[in-house]
Amino acid sequence: MSFWTRHQILEKNSILLVIGILLVVAVGGLVEIAPLFYLKSTIEKVDGMRPYTPLELAGRAIYIREGCYSCHSQMVRTLRDEVERYGHYSLAAESMYDHPFQWGSKRTGPDLARVGGKYSDEWHVAHMVNPRAVVPQSIMPGYPFLAATDLDFRGIAAHLKANRAVGVPYTDAQVENAAADLKAQATPDDAGIGDLQARYPKSIARDFDGNPARITEMDALVAYLQMLGTLVDFKSYDAKVNLR
Ligand code: HEC
Repeated sequence: MSFWTRHQILEKNSILLVIGILLVVAVGGLVEIAPLFYLKSTIEKVDGMRPYTPLELAGRAIYIREGCYSCHSQMVRTLRDEVERYGHYSLAAESMYDHPFQWGSKRTGPDLARVGGKYSDEWHVAHMVNPRAVVPQSIMPGYPFLAATDLDFRGIAAHLKANRAVGVPYTDAQVENAAADLKAQATPDDAGIGDLQARYPKSIARDFDGNPARITEMDALVAYLQMLGTLVDFKSYDAKVNLR
């Protein structure tokens, strides 16, 4: 009886087949799961990651509310074409404060994980109001109402607290000053900018939407887009060290 004929025994006996399937699946599971117990951490150690500022967090909520993730991913894969187009592949550490994460699985538009600093604020505002104004072939919908809508940030301290409840290390001072920090980041020459930047290193304070008189949803969204992918210091990041 050859090997292939003996295989009939499994095919004709459902109990044996189920046992066989379980054994094969268990091997696959072990190969995937066992290494996780030997790694010190599945999240790399990197310099520069910090929780979102209140304004960025509010912008992120708008990104989710408007469903931007249905056309945009936020994860640069480890493939050469991706790295050449978008920059360093995404690290787990870069989304460790994301609740929920925005990796996405569909790219009608480009990946946004590293869009921060790629364009000016003016470009983003013009693009969000009417994408065709700056990219004639664009099929992205316009979001002109964001520039005309005041940002409602009455719940911002609670938003930080909710993130803290799921593991983001916001301090008491950050929660208490959430509204003040949000205002400071969107208001040029605000007295609170020093405090904001002490609490959130590398945070940028400016009038993102070009309208200093108001804090709009556009301010928050552009502040969020402009920080994406800019936090981790890749000069001090060594992938080999993190494999151990
Ligand atoms: C229907 C799909 C669709 C939706 C929804 C969508 N976009 Fe886009 N987006 C695109 C396409 C296509 C492009 C490429 C053409 C362009 O630049 O307009 C793009 C480009 C962009 C760019 C420029 C990226 C780059 O690297 O050039 C940004 C930033 C952006 N979108 C942000 C957003 C935000 C924020 C939202 C939600 C408020 C959003 N998009 C919603 C399809 C979409």
